[in-house]
Amino acid sequence: MRKVVLKKDNLVVYKRLLRYSRPYAGRIVIAMLASVGVAASDVAVAKLIQPLVDHVLAPGGEALINYVPFIVIGLALLKGSSRYVQEYFMKTAGQMVVQDLRNDLYKHTLRLSMGFYSRVQSGTVVSRIINDVATLQKSAADELVAVVRESLTLVGLVVLLFYNDWRLALVAFIVLPVAIVPATHIGRRIKRYVQKSLSNIGNLTGILQEAFGGIKVVKAFGTEDKEKDRFEAENYNYYRRIAKVIRYDSASAPIIELLSSLGAAGVLWYGLNRVMQGHISEGELLSFVTAMGMMYGPLKRLVKTNNVIQKAIGAAERVFGMMDTPVDLDDIADAPDLGKVKGHVVFNHVDFGYAPAELVLHDFNLEVNPGTTVALVGASGAGKSTVIGLLARFYDPLHGNITIDGQDISRVSQKSLKQQIALVDQEIFLFHDTIANNIRYARPEATDAEVVRAAQQAFADDFIAQMPQGFETVIGDRGARLSGGQRQRICIARAVLRDASILLLDEATSALDTQSETVVQNALENLMQGRTTFVIAHRLSTVMRADEILVMQKGRVVERGSHEDLLAHGGHYFDLYQTQFSAQ
Ligand SMILES: Nc1ncnc2c1ncn2[C@@H]1O[C@H](COP(=O)(O)OP(=O)(O)OP(=O)(O)O)[C@@H](O)[C@H]1O
Ligand SMILES: [Mg+2]
Repeated sequence: MRKVVLKKDNLVVYKRLLRYSRPYAGRIVIAMLASVGVAASDVAVAKLIQPLVDHVLAPGGEALINYVPFIVIGLALLKGSSRYVQEYFMKTAGQMVVQDLRNDLYKHTLRLSMGFYSRVQSGTVVSRIINDVATLQKSAADELVAVVRESLTLVGLVVLLFYNDWRLALVAFIVLPVAIVPATHIGRRIKRYVQKSLSNIGNLTGILQEAFGGIKVVKAFGTEDKEKDRFEAENYNYYRRIAKVIRYDSASAPIIELLSSLGAAGVLWYGLNRVMQGHISEGELLSFVTAMGMMYGPLKRLVKTNNVIQKAIGAAERVFGMMDTPVDLDDIADAPDLGKVKGHVVFNHVDFGYAPAELVLHDFNLEVNPGTTVALVGASGAGKSTVIGLLARFYDPLHGNITIDGQDISRVSQKSLKQQIALVDQEIFLFHDTIANNIRYARPEATDAEVVRAAQQAFADDFIAQMPQGFETVIGDRGARLSGGQRQRICIARAVLRDASILLLDEATSALDTQSETVVQNALENLMQGRTTFVIAHRLSTVMRADEILVMQKGRVVERGSHEDLLAHGGHYFDLYQTQFSAQ
Protein backbone atom coordinates (compact mmCIF):
# COMPACT_ATOMS: atom_id res chain seq x y z
CA MET A 1 0.00 0.00 0.00
CA ARG A 2 0.98 3.60 -0.39
CA LYS A 3 3.04 4.60 2.59
CA VAL A 4 0.99 6.82 4.80
CA VAL A 5 2.88 9.92 5.88
CA LEU A 6 3.47 9.45 9.57
CA LYS A 7 5.82 12.31 10.23
CA LYS A 8 3.60 14.64 12.11
CA ASP A 9 3.95 16.80 15.11
CA ASN A 10 2.53 15.34 18.28
CA LEU A 11 0.86 18.69 18.72
CA VAL A 12 -1.09 18.33 15.50
CA VAL A 13 -2.35 14.97 16.66
CA TYR A 14 -3.32 16.35 20.08
CA LYS A 15 -5.26 19.15 18.45
CA ARG A 16 -7.09 16.77 16.22
CA LEU A 17 -8.00 14.49 19.10
CA LEU A 18 -9.10 17.56 21.02
CA ARG A 19 -11.43 18.47 18.18
CA TYR A 20 -13.03 15.06 18.55
CA SER A 21 -13.43 15.66 22.30
CA ARG A 22 -15.18 18.99 21.89
CA PRO A 23 -18.73 17.56 21.76
CA TYR A 24 -18.09 15.93 25.13
CA ALA A 25 -16.55 19.02 26.76
CA GLY A 26 -19.28 19.03 29.43
CA ARG A 27 -18.32 15.58 30.71
CA ILE A 28 -14.66 16.42 30.58
CA VAL A 29 -15.13 19.61 32.57
CA ILE A 30 -17.07 17.69 35.24
CA ALA A 31 -14.26 15.14 35.36
CA MET A 32 -11.65 17.88 35.71
CA LEU A 33 -13.54 19.52 38.54
CA ALA A 34 -13.82 16.18 40.29
CA SER A 35 -10.09 15.63 39.92
CA VAL A 36 -9.53 18.88 41.81
CA GLY A 37 -11.37 17.13 44.66
CA VAL A 38 -9.08 14.12 44.46
CA ALA A 39 -5.95 16.23 44.39
CA ALA A 40 -7.16 18.49 47.19
CA SER A 41 -7.84 15.57 49.51
CA ASP A 42 -4.35 14.17 48.90
CA VAL A 43 -2.70 17.51 49.53
CA ALA A 44 -4.83 18.03 52.63
CA VAL A 45 -3.58 14.76 54.11
CA ALA A 46 0.02 15.88 53.70
CA LYS A 47 -0.73 19.33 55.03
CA LEU A 48 -2.59 18.08 58.12
CA ILE A 49 0.38 16.01 59.30
CA GLN A 50 2.02 19.20 60.51
CA PRO A 51 -0.76 20.32 62.96
CA LEU A 52 -1.15 16.68 64.00
CA VAL A 53 2.45 16.50 65.15
CA ASP A 54 2.92 20.06 66.31
CA HIS A 55 -0.47 20.68 68.01
CA VAL A 56 -2.40 17.46 68.68
CA LEU A 57 0.63 15.61 69.97
CA ALA A 58 1.87 18.66 71.85
CA PRO A 59 0.90 19.35 75.47
CA GLY A 60 -2.76 20.41 75.70
CA GLY A 61 -3.75 18.69 72.45
CA GLU A 62 -6.01 16.03 74.05
CA ALA A 63 -9.19 17.92 73.22
CA LEU A 64 -8.34 17.84 69.50
CA ILE A 65 -7.89 14.03 69.32
CA ASN A 66 -11.63 13.39 68.90
CA TYR A 67 -11.69 15.40 65.65
CA VAL A 68 -9.02 13.26 63.99
CA PRO A 69 -11.20 10.25 62.98
CA PHE A 70 -13.84 12.54 61.45
CA ILE A 71 -11.23 14.36 59.41
CA VAL A 72 -9.77 11.08 58.16
CA ILE A 73 -13.16 9.67 57.15
CA GLY A 74 -14.30 12.98 55.67
CA LEU A 75 -11.23 13.22 53.49
CA ALA A 76 -11.63 9.62 52.36
CA LEU A 77 -15.26 10.31 51.43
CA LEU A 78 -14.29 13.41 49.46
CA LYS A 79 -11.55 11.57 47.64
CA GLY A 80 -13.64 8.49 46.91
CA SER A 81 -16.65 10.30 45.52
CA SER A 82 -14.55 12.74 43.48
CA ARG A 83 -12.64 9.87 42.03
CA TYR A 84 -15.78 8.02 41.05
CA VAL A 85 -17.25 11.06 39.30
CA GLN A 86 -13.96 11.78 37.60
CA GLU A 87 -13.37 8.26 36.28
CA TYR A 88 -16.93 7.73 35.15
CA PHE A 89 -17.25 10.97 33.18
CA MET A 90 -13.75 10.91 31.74
CA LYS A 91 -13.89 7.32 30.61
CA THR A 92 -17.34 7.54 29.05
CA ALA A 93 -16.26 10.72 27.24
CA GLY A 94 -13.20 8.85 25.99
CA GLN A 95 -15.29 5.97 24.74
CA MET A 96 -17.59 8.32 22.87
CA VAL A 97 -14.65 10.03 21.21
CA VAL A 98 -13.32 6.65 20.13
CA GLN A 99 -16.72 5.63 18.82
CA ASP A 100 -16.89 8.78 16.68
CA LEU A 101 -13.37 8.19 15.42
CA ARG A 102 -14.14 4.63 14.43
CA ASN A 103 -17.33 5.68 12.63
CA ASP A 104 -15.50 8.43 10.77
CA LEU A 105 -12.70 6.11 9.79
CA TYR A 106 -15.08 3.49 8.45
CA LYS A 107 -17.08 6.13 6.59
CA HIS A 108 -13.89 7.38 4.99
CA THR A 109 -12.55 3.97 4.00
CA LEU A 110 -15.89 3.13 2.34
CA ARG A 111 -15.47 6.19 0.14
CA LEU A 112 -12.04 5.12 -1.08
CA SER A 113 -11.93 3.90 -4.65
CA MET A 114 -11.62 0.42 -6.14
CA GLY A 115 -8.08 1.45 -7.02
CA PHE A 116 -7.29 1.75 -3.32
CA TYR A 117 -8.79 -1.63 -2.53
CA SER A 118 -6.89 -3.36 -5.30
CA ARG A 119 -3.65 -2.02 -3.81
CA VAL A 120 -4.31 -2.61 -0.13
CA GLN A 121 -4.98 -5.86 1.63
CA SER A 122 -8.41 -5.48 3.15
CA GLY A 123 -7.29 -7.19 6.38
CA THR A 124 -4.92 -4.34 7.16
CA VAL A 125 -7.75 -1.84 6.71
CA VAL A 126 -9.89 -3.91 9.08
CA SER A 127 -7.05 -3.86 11.58
CA ARG A 128 -6.76 -0.07 11.46
CA ILE A 129 -10.41 0.32 12.28
CA ILE A 130 -10.40 -2.32 15.01
CA ASN A 131 -6.93 -2.59 16.54
CA ASP A 132 -5.41 0.83 15.98
CA VAL A 133 -8.48 2.53 17.32
CA ALA A 134 -8.56 0.07 20.23
CA THR A 135 -4.97 0.95 21.14
CA LEU A 136 -5.87 4.60 20.99
CA GLN A 137 -8.88 3.89 23.18
CA LYS A 138 -7.02 1.88 25.80
CA SER A 139 -4.36 4.54 26.02
CA ALA A 140 -6.04 7.86 25.54
CA ALA A 141 -9.48 7.30 26.97
CA ASP A 142 -8.42 5.50 30.11
CA GLU A 143 -5.15 7.22 30.81
CA LEU A 144 -6.20 10.77 30.21
CA VAL A 145 -8.02 10.48 33.52
CA ALA A 146 -4.76 9.75 35.23
CA VAL A 147 -2.91 12.63 33.61
CA VAL A 148 -5.31 15.24 34.83
CA ARG A 149 -5.54 13.80 38.33
CA GLU A 150 -1.88 13.13 38.85
CA SER A 151 -0.83 16.49 37.45
CA LEU A 152 -3.17 18.34 39.76
CA THR A 153 -2.05 16.32 42.78
CA LEU A 154 1.53 16.96 41.82
CA VAL A 155 1.03 20.70 41.47
CA GLY A 156 -0.75 20.82 44.81
CA LEU A 157 2.03 18.93 46.54
CA VAL A 158 4.74 21.02 44.95
CA VAL A 159 3.06 24.19 46.14
CA LEU A 160 2.82 22.70 49.61
CA LEU A 161 6.52 21.78 49.58
CA PHE A 162 7.60 25.27 48.65
CA TYR A 163 5.17 26.74 51.14
CA ASN A 164 6.60 24.57 53.90
CA ASP A 165 10.25 25.22 53.22
CA TRP A 166 11.47 26.47 49.85
CA ARG A 167 15.12 25.59 50.59
CA LEU A 168 14.24 21.97 51.20
CA ALA A 169 11.95 21.98 48.19
CA LEU A 170 14.80 23.13 45.97
CA VAL A 171 16.91 20.20 47.14
CA ALA A 172 14.07 17.84 46.39
CA PHE A 173 13.58 19.17 42.88
CA ILE A 174 17.14 19.30 41.72
CA VAL A 175 16.63 15.78 40.43
CA LEU A 176 13.52 16.62 38.38
CA PRO A 177 15.21 18.01 35.24
CA VAL A 178 17.46 14.98 35.27
CA ALA A 179 14.40 12.72 35.19
CA ILE A 180 12.86 14.41 32.16
CA VAL A 181 15.61 13.36 29.77
CA PRO A 182 15.18 9.58 30.11
CA ALA A 183 11.40 9.98 30.23
CA THR A 184 11.14 11.69 26.84
CA HIS A 185 13.65 9.32 25.32
CA ILE A 186 11.65 6.32 26.50
CA GLY A 187 8.42 7.90 25.28
CA ARG A 188 9.76 8.34 21.75
CA ARG A 189 10.91 4.73 21.56
CA ILE A 190 7.61 3.45 22.80
CA LYS A 191 5.70 5.41 20.22
CA ARG A 192 7.82 4.06 17.39
CA TYR A 193 7.57 0.44 18.44
CA VAL A 194 3.85 0.65 19.08
CA GLN A 195 3.38 1.86 15.50
CA LYS A 196 5.48 -1.00 14.23
CA SER A 197 3.59 -3.51 16.33
CA LEU A 198 0.29 -2.19 14.97
CA SER A 199 1.46 -2.77 11.43
CA ASN A 200 2.33 -6.33 12.49
CA ILE A 201 -1.20 -6.72 13.84
CA GLY A 202 -2.45 -5.45 10.49
CA ASN A 203 -0.45 -8.12 8.71
CA LEU A 204 -1.73 -10.77 11.12
CA THR A 205 -5.31 -9.76 10.40
CA GLY A 206 -4.54 -9.88 6.69
CA ILE A 207 -3.10 -13.38 6.95
CA LEU A 208 -6.10 -14.61 8.91
CA GLN A 209 -8.57 -13.07 6.53
CA GLU A 210 -6.84 -14.64 3.56
CA ALA A 211 -6.59 -18.05 5.14
CA PHE A 212 -10.22 -18.15 6.23
CA GLY A 213 -11.49 -16.52 3.04
CA GLY A 214 -9.52 -18.99 0.97
CA ILE A 215 -10.00 -21.95 3.31
CA LYS A 216 -11.08 -24.15 0.41
CA VAL A 217 -7.80 -23.55 -1.38
CA VAL A 218 -5.89 -24.22 1.85
CA LYS A 219 -7.77 -27.48 2.35
CA ALA A 220 -7.49 -28.50 -1.30
CA PHE A 221 -3.74 -28.03 -1.40
CA GLY A 222 -3.22 -29.23 2.15
CA THR A 223 -1.19 -26.13 3.00
CA GLU A 224 -2.28 -25.80 6.63
CA ASP A 225 1.34 -26.02 7.79
CA LYS A 226 2.46 -23.33 5.40
CA GLU A 227 -0.32 -21.03 6.59
CA LYS A 228 0.51 -21.84 10.20
CA ASP A 229 4.18 -20.98 9.61
CA ARG A 230 3.28 -17.71 7.92
CA PHE A 231 1.10 -16.78 10.86
CA GLU A 232 3.66 -17.83 13.45
CA ALA A 233 6.41 -15.83 11.76
CA GLU A 234 4.34 -12.66 11.75
CA ASN A 235 3.10 -13.34 15.26
CA TYR A 236 6.72 -13.57 16.38
CA ASN A 237 7.50 -10.28 14.64
CA TYR A 238 4.69 -8.74 16.60
CA TYR A 239 6.09 -10.19 19.83
CA ARG A 240 9.53 -8.72 19.09
CA ARG A 241 8.11 -5.23 18.67
CA ILE A 242 5.89 -5.48 21.70
CA ALA A 243 8.79 -6.84 23.75
CA LYS A 244 10.66 -3.62 22.95
CA VAL A 245 7.71 -1.61 24.18
CA ILE A 246 7.63 -3.66 27.38
CA ARG A 247 11.35 -3.19 27.89
CA TYR A 248 11.12 0.61 27.72
CA ASP A 249 7.92 0.67 29.70
CA SER A 250 9.38 -1.40 32.53
CA ALA A 251 12.55 0.66 32.68
CA SER A 252 10.79 3.94 33.32
CA ALA A 253 9.58 3.29 36.88
CA PRO A 254 12.92 2.07 38.29
CA ILE A 255 14.74 5.01 36.71
CA ILE A 256 12.41 7.50 38.33
CA GLU A 257 12.66 5.58 41.61
CA LEU A 258 16.43 5.77 41.59
CA LEU A 259 16.42 9.46 40.86
CA SER A 260 13.82 10.00 43.58
CA SER A 261 15.98 8.31 46.14
CA LEU A 262 18.71 10.83 45.40
CA GLY A 263 16.27 13.62 46.13
CA ALA A 264 14.97 11.91 49.24
CA ALA A 265 18.48 11.31 50.57
CA GLY A 266 19.36 14.97 50.09
CA VAL A 267 16.15 16.19 51.70
CA LEU A 268 16.49 13.95 54.76
CA TRP A 269 20.09 14.92 55.35
CA TYR A 270 19.51 18.61 54.87
CA GLY A 271 16.10 18.61 56.59
CA LEU A 272 17.35 16.86 59.74
CA ASN A 273 20.12 19.44 59.95
CA ARG A 274 17.60 22.25 59.67
CA VAL A 275 15.44 20.77 62.46
CA MET A 276 18.53 20.46 64.69
CA GLN A 277 19.41 24.10 63.99
CA GLY A 278 15.81 25.06 64.88
CA HIS A 279 14.83 26.52 61.50
CA ILE A 280 11.81 24.21 61.15
CA SER A 281 9.72 22.07 63.49
CA GLU A 282 9.64 18.25 63.55
CA GLY A 283 6.06 18.41 62.25
CA GLU A 284 7.07 20.55 59.32
CA LEU A 285 9.81 18.13 58.34
CA LEU A 286 7.46 15.16 58.65
CA SER A 287 4.79 16.94 56.59
CA PHE A 288 7.42 17.81 54.04
CA VAL A 289 8.72 14.27 53.76
CA THR A 290 5.19 12.88 53.56
CA ALA A 291 4.29 15.30 50.77
CA MET A 292 7.48 14.38 48.97
CA GLY A 293 6.75 10.69 49.37
CA MET A 294 3.25 11.21 48.05
CA MET A 295 4.61 13.21 45.16
CA TYR A 296 6.89 10.58 43.76
CA GLY A 297 3.92 8.27 43.32
CA PRO A 298 2.11 10.56 40.87
CA LEU A 299 5.44 11.48 39.30
CA LYS A 300 6.17 7.86 38.55
CA ARG A 301 2.68 7.34 37.21
CA LEU A 302 2.98 10.45 35.06
CA VAL A 303 6.11 9.10 33.44
CA LYS A 304 4.23 5.84 32.86
CA THR A 305 1.34 7.84 31.51
CA ASN A 306 3.66 9.61 29.15
CA ASN A 307 4.49 6.17 27.78
CA VAL A 308 0.83 5.39 27.37
CA ILE A 309 0.19 8.72 25.69
CA GLN A 310 3.00 8.06 23.27
CA LYS A 311 1.30 4.76 22.43
CA ALA A 312 -1.95 6.63 21.85
CA ILE A 313 -0.28 9.18 19.61
CA GLY A 314 1.41 6.42 17.67
CA ALA A 315 -1.95 4.77 17.08
CA ALA A 316 -3.69 8.09 16.40
CA GLU A 317 -1.14 8.98 13.73
CA ARG A 318 -1.94 5.74 11.94
CA VAL A 319 -5.68 6.30 12.30
CA PHE A 320 -5.47 9.88 11.01
CA GLY A 321 -3.06 8.77 8.30
CA MET A 322 -5.74 6.43 7.00
CA MET A 323 -8.37 9.11 7.38
CA ASP A 324 -6.23 11.43 5.27
CA THR A 325 -5.89 8.97 2.41
CA PRO A 326 -7.29 11.08 -0.42
CA VAL A 327 -10.56 9.96 -1.97
CA ASP A 328 -9.39 9.81 -5.56
CA LEU A 329 -12.81 9.27 -7.10
CA ASP A 330 -14.85 11.81 -5.23
CA ASP A 331 -17.90 13.61 -6.55
CA ILE A 332 -17.16 17.05 -7.97
CA ALA A 333 -18.54 19.93 -5.92
CA ASP A 334 -22.35 20.18 -6.23
CA ALA A 335 -22.45 17.27 -8.64
CA PRO A 336 -25.94 17.07 -10.16
CA ASP A 337 -27.92 13.84 -10.05
CA LEU A 338 -27.99 11.77 -13.19
CA GLY A 339 -31.75 11.26 -12.94
CA LYS A 340 -33.68 8.50 -14.64
CA VAL A 341 -31.92 7.72 -17.91
CA LYS A 342 -33.02 6.10 -21.16
CA GLY A 343 -29.65 4.39 -21.44
CA HIS A 344 -27.79 6.00 -24.33
CA VAL A 345 -24.18 5.10 -23.55
CA VAL A 346 -21.15 6.56 -25.33
CA PHE A 347 -17.45 5.87 -24.78
CA ASN A 348 -15.47 8.76 -26.36
CA HIS A 349 -11.83 8.00 -27.14
CA VAL A 350 -11.29 6.33 -23.79
CA ASP A 351 -7.75 5.48 -22.74
CA PHE A 352 -7.38 3.58 -19.52
CA GLY A 353 -4.76 1.67 -17.56
CA TYR A 354 -4.78 0.41 -13.97
CA ALA A 355 -1.24 1.76 -13.89
CA PRO A 356 -1.05 4.88 -16.09
CA ALA A 357 2.06 3.55 -17.83
CA GLU A 358 0.32 0.38 -18.95
CA LEU A 359 -2.75 1.02 -21.04
CA VAL A 360 -5.45 -1.65 -20.88
CA LEU A 361 -7.85 0.20 -23.18
CA HIS A 362 -6.61 2.19 -26.18
CA ASP A 363 -8.80 4.82 -27.79
CA PHE A 364 -11.92 2.86 -27.00
CA ASN A 365 -15.05 4.12 -28.77
CA LEU A 366 -18.53 2.79 -28.44
CA GLU A 367 -22.08 4.03 -28.81
CA VAL A 368 -24.96 1.98 -27.50
CA ASN A 369 -28.53 3.03 -28.19
CA PRO A 370 -31.12 2.88 -25.43
CA GLY A 371 -32.65 -0.53 -24.96
CA THR A 372 -30.14 -2.38 -27.12
CA THR A 373 -27.69 -5.10 -26.20
CA VAL A 374 -23.99 -5.10 -26.92
CA ALA A 375 -21.89 -8.22 -26.41
CA LEU A 376 -18.18 -7.93 -25.62
CA VAL A 377 -16.13 -10.92 -26.73
CA GLY A 378 -12.42 -11.55 -26.91
CA ALA A 379 -9.60 -13.40 -25.27
CA SER A 380 -9.08 -13.43 -21.54
CA GLY A 381 -7.41 -10.22 -20.44
CA ALA A 382 -8.60 -8.30 -23.50
CA GLY A 383 -10.24 -5.69 -21.30
CA LYS A 384 -13.92 -6.71 -21.35
CA SER A 385 -14.51 -6.46 -17.61
CA THR A 386 -12.54 -3.22 -17.60
CA VAL A 387 -15.06 -1.62 -19.98
CA ILE A 388 -17.89 -2.55 -17.63
CA GLY A 389 -15.91 -1.37 -14.59
CA LEU A 390 -15.39 2.03 -16.21
CA LEU A 391 -19.09 2.38 -16.91
CA ALA A 392 -19.82 1.57 -13.26
CA ARG A 393 -17.19 4.21 -12.45
CA PHE A 394 -14.94 1.98 -10.40
CA TYR A 395 -12.22 3.97 -12.14
CA ASP A 396 -12.01 7.11 -14.27
CA PRO A 397 -10.58 7.05 -17.80
CA LEU A 398 -7.13 8.56 -18.24
CA HIS A 399 -8.29 10.32 -21.42
CA GLY A 400 -11.65 10.65 -23.08
CA ASN A 401 -14.95 10.31 -21.32
CA ILE A 402 -18.04 8.20 -20.92
CA THR A 403 -21.52 9.65 -21.17
CA ILE A 404 -24.97 8.33 -20.36
CA ASP A 405 -27.79 10.23 -22.09
CA GLY A 406 -25.21 12.89 -22.90
CA GLN A 407 -24.01 13.42 -19.30
CA ASP A 408 -20.41 12.75 -18.41
CA ILE A 409 -20.56 10.09 -15.70
CA SER A 410 -17.59 11.58 -13.85
CA ARG A 411 -19.53 14.83 -13.37
CA VAL A 412 -22.72 13.48 -11.83
CA SER A 413 -23.17 12.22 -8.27
CA GLN A 414 -21.96 8.67 -7.93
CA LYS A 415 -25.01 7.70 -5.95
CA SER A 416 -27.34 8.70 -8.75
CA LEU A 417 -25.14 6.97 -11.31
CA LYS A 418 -25.19 3.71 -9.41
CA GLN A 419 -28.97 3.89 -9.15
CA GLN A 420 -29.16 3.56 -12.92
CA ILE A 421 -26.95 0.49 -13.05
CA ALA A 422 -27.39 -3.17 -12.17
CA LEU A 423 -24.28 -5.33 -12.24
CA VAL A 424 -24.02 -9.09 -12.21
CA ASP A 425 -20.30 -9.50 -11.80
CA GLN A 426 -17.83 -12.15 -12.81
CA GLU A 427 -16.95 -12.52 -9.13
CA ILE A 428 -20.08 -13.44 -7.28
CA PHE A 429 -20.45 -12.03 -3.82
CA LEU A 430 -23.17 -12.86 -1.34
CA PHE A 431 -23.54 -11.77 2.25
CA HIS A 432 -23.80 -13.99 5.29
CA ASP A 433 -27.52 -13.35 5.51
CA THR A 434 -30.86 -14.74 4.37
CA ILE A 435 -31.62 -15.30 0.71
CA ALA A 436 -34.34 -12.65 0.85
CA ASN A 437 -31.97 -10.05 2.27
CA ASN A 438 -29.31 -10.91 -0.28
CA ILE A 439 -31.75 -10.26 -3.10
CA ARG A 440 -33.14 -7.19 -1.36
CA TYR A 441 -29.65 -5.70 -1.18
CA ALA A 442 -30.36 -4.23 -4.62
CA ARG A 443 -33.35 -2.28 -3.32
CA PRO A 444 -33.76 -2.30 0.46
CA GLU A 445 -37.30 -0.95 0.36
CA ALA A 446 -38.59 -3.78 -1.88
CA THR A 447 -41.57 -5.73 -0.55
CA ASP A 448 -41.52 -9.48 0.07
CA ALA A 449 -43.73 -9.98 -2.98
CA GLU A 450 -41.25 -8.09 -5.16
CA VAL A 451 -38.37 -10.18 -3.84
CA VAL A 452 -40.26 -13.38 -4.64
CA ARG A 453 -41.13 -12.11 -8.11
CA ALA A 454 -37.47 -11.25 -8.78
CA ALA A 455 -36.47 -14.74 -7.70
CA GLN A 456 -39.08 -16.23 -10.03
CA GLN A 457 -37.82 -14.20 -12.95
CA ALA A 458 -34.29 -15.40 -12.25
CA PHE A 459 -35.57 -18.99 -12.03
CA ALA A 460 -34.25 -19.17 -8.51
CA ASP A 461 -37.59 -19.82 -6.79
CA ASP A 462 -37.49 -23.60 -7.31
CA PHE A 463 -34.32 -24.24 -5.38
CA ILE A 464 -35.17 -21.57 -2.82
CA ALA A 465 -38.44 -23.38 -2.10
CA GLN A 466 -36.45 -26.50 -1.34
CA MET A 467 -34.19 -24.77 1.18
CA PRO A 468 -35.02 -25.52 4.83
CA GLN A 469 -36.36 -22.05 5.60
CA GLY A 470 -37.08 -20.93 2.05
CA PHE A 471 -36.30 -17.25 1.55
CA GLU A 472 -35.31 -16.96 5.19
CA THR A 473 -32.48 -19.49 4.87
CA VAL A 474 -29.10 -18.06 5.87
CA ILE A 475 -26.70 -19.00 3.11
CA GLY A 476 -23.37 -18.86 4.95
CA ASP A 477 -20.26 -16.79 4.44
CA ARG A 478 -20.21 -15.59 0.81
CA GLY A 479 -23.06 -17.96 0.07
CA ALA A 480 -20.98 -21.02 0.96
CA ARG A 481 -24.08 -23.19 1.39
CA LEU A 482 -25.18 -22.76 -2.21
CA SER A 483 -23.95 -24.22 -5.47
CA GLY A 484 -22.20 -21.97 -7.96
CA GLY A 485 -25.21 -21.84 -10.27
CA GLN A 486 -27.55 -21.12 -7.38
CA ARG A 487 -25.37 -18.25 -6.26
CA GLN A 488 -25.40 -16.86 -9.75
CA ARG A 489 -29.17 -16.96 -9.93
CA ILE A 490 -29.43 -15.08 -6.63
CA CYS A 491 -27.21 -12.41 -8.16
CA ILE A 492 -29.43 -12.27 -11.23
CA ALA A 493 -32.50 -11.91 -9.01
CA ARG A 494 -30.72 -9.04 -7.32
CA ALA A 495 -30.22 -7.35 -10.70
CA VAL A 496 -33.86 -7.98 -11.61
CA LEU A 497 -35.00 -6.30 -8.41
CA ARG A 498 -32.73 -3.34 -9.04
CA ASP A 499 -34.84 -2.42 -12.06
CA ALA A 500 -32.13 -0.17 -13.53
CA SER A 501 -31.91 1.25 -17.05
CA ILE A 502 -28.45 -0.14 -17.65
CA LEU A 503 -27.61 -3.76 -17.12
CA LEU A 504 -24.06 -5.03 -16.88
CA LEU A 505 -23.71 -8.80 -17.14
CA ASP A 506 -20.18 -10.09 -16.77
CA GLU A 507 -20.31 -13.82 -17.49
CA ALA A 508 -23.63 -13.88 -15.70
CA THR A 509 -24.45 -17.37 -16.88
CA SER A 510 -21.03 -18.99 -16.67
CA ALA A 511 -21.80 -21.22 -13.68
CA LEU A 512 -25.00 -22.64 -15.10
CA ASP A 513 -25.51 -25.94 -16.86
CA THR A 514 -26.90 -25.82 -20.39
CA GLN A 515 -30.43 -26.51 -19.25
CA SER A 516 -30.55 -23.87 -16.52
CA GLU A 517 -28.73 -21.57 -18.84
CA THR A 518 -31.52 -21.75 -21.39
CA VAL A 519 -33.97 -21.00 -18.61
CA VAL A 520 -31.93 -18.14 -17.18
CA GLN A 521 -31.23 -16.92 -20.67
CA ASN A 522 -34.96 -16.52 -21.13
CA ALA A 523 -35.14 -14.74 -17.80
CA LEU A 524 -32.39 -12.39 -18.84
CA GLU A 525 -34.15 -11.86 -22.14
CA ASN A 526 -37.14 -10.54 -20.18
CA LEU A 527 -34.89 -8.47 -18.02
CA MET A 528 -33.06 -6.97 -20.98
CA GLN A 529 -36.29 -5.74 -22.56
CA GLY A 530 -36.07 -1.97 -22.80
CA ARG A 531 -32.74 -1.79 -20.99
CA THR A 532 -29.31 -1.00 -22.33
CA THR A 533 -27.33 -4.16 -21.73
CA PHE A 534 -23.62 -4.90 -21.77
CA VAL A 535 -23.05 -8.60 -21.77
CA ILE A 536 -19.78 -10.48 -21.57
CA ALA A 537 -20.24 -14.10 -22.36
CA HIS A 538 -18.40 -17.12 -23.56
CA ARG A 539 -21.58 -18.73 -24.82
CA LEU A 540 -22.64 -18.47 -28.38
CA SER A 541 -26.33 -18.42 -27.50
CA THR A 542 -25.93 -15.26 -25.46
CA VAL A 543 -23.66 -13.56 -27.93
CA MET A 544 -25.83 -14.31 -30.95
CA ARG A 545 -28.79 -12.45 -29.52
CA ALA A 546 -26.92 -9.19 -29.08
CA ASP A 547 -27.72 -6.25 -31.36
CA GLU A 548 -24.03 -5.60 -31.79
CA ILE A 549 -20.98 -7.68 -31.04
CA LEU A 550 -17.66 -6.05 -30.19
CA VAL A 551 -14.56 -8.13 -30.60
CA MET A 552 -11.79 -6.94 -28.32
CA GLN A 553 -8.12 -7.67 -28.52
CA LYS A 554 -5.51 -6.22 -26.15
CA GLY A 555 -7.69 -3.28 -25.19
CA ARG A 556 -8.84 -2.36 -28.68
CA VAL A 557 -12.01 -3.02 -30.60
CA VAL A 558 -10.88 -4.96 -33.63
CA GLU A 559 -14.26 -5.86 -35.13
CA ARG A 560 -17.86 -4.93 -34.61
CA GLY A 561 -21.16 -5.93 -36.14
CA SER A 562 -23.89 -8.53 -36.00
CA HIS A 563 -23.21 -12.24 -35.64
CA GLU A 564 -23.94 -12.94 -39.30
CA ASP A 565 -21.90 -10.04 -40.63
CA LEU A 566 -18.92 -10.92 -38.49
CA LEU A 567 -19.03 -14.58 -39.45
CA ALA A 568 -19.26 -13.68 -43.10
CA HIS A 569 -16.33 -11.31 -42.67
CA GLY A 570 -14.13 -14.23 -41.64
CA GLY A 571 -11.89 -12.29 -39.26
CA HIS A 572 -11.20 -12.47 -35.50
CA TYR A 573 -14.80 -13.30 -34.68
CA PHE A 574 -14.76 -16.13 -37.15
CA ASP A 575 -11.63 -17.54 -35.48
CA LEU A 576 -13.19 -17.13 -32.07
CA TYR A 577 -16.31 -18.85 -33.32
CA GLN A 578 -14.25 -21.74 -34.61
CA THR A 579 -12.23 -22.24 -31.43
CA GLN A 580 -14.60 -21.22 -28.66
CA PHE A 581 -18.13 -21.66 -29.81
CA SER A 582 -17.95 -24.58 -32.24
CA ALA A 583 -18.39 -27.15 -29.50
CA GLN A 584 -21.67 -25.48 -28.54
N1 LIG B 1 -7.40 -4.23 -10.60
C1 LIG B 1 -6.47 -4.37 -11.58
N2 LIG B 1 -5.24 -3.84 -11.38
C2 LIG B 1 -4.31 -3.96 -12.34
N3 LIG B 1 -4.50 -4.60 -13.50
C3 LIG B 1 -5.68 -5.15 -13.76
C4 LIG B 1 -6.74 -5.07 -12.80
N4 LIG B 1 -7.82 -5.70 -13.30
C5 LIG B 1 -7.44 -6.16 -14.52
N5 LIG B 1 -6.17 -5.83 -14.81
C6 LIG B 1 -5.47 -6.08 -16.06
O1 LIG B 1 -6.19 -5.47 -17.11
C7 LIG B 1 -6.27 -6.30 -18.25
C8 LIG B 1 -7.72 -6.46 -18.69
O2 LIG B 1 -8.42 -7.15 -17.66
P1 LIG B 1 -9.98 -7.48 -17.77
O3 LIG B 1 -10.39 -7.97 -16.45
O4 LIG B 1 -10.69 -6.30 -18.31
O5 LIG B 1 -9.99 -8.67 -18.83
P2 LIG B 1 -11.21 -9.50 -19.40
O6 LIG B 1 -11.27 -9.22 -20.84
O7 LIG B 1 -12.42 -9.24 -18.59
O8 LIG B 1 -10.72 -11.00 -19.17
P3 LIG B 1 -11.55 -12.30 -18.73
O9 LIG B 1 -12.27 -12.80 -19.94
O10 LIG B 1 -10.49 -13.24 -18.31
O11 LIG B 1 -12.47 -11.91 -17.64
C9 LIG B 1 -5.59 -7.61 -17.87
O12 LIG B 1 -4.34 -7.62 -18.51
C10 LIG B 1 -5.42 -7.55 -16.38
O13 LIG B 1 -4.19 -8.09 -16.02
MG1 LIG C 1 -13.49 -10.35 -17.19
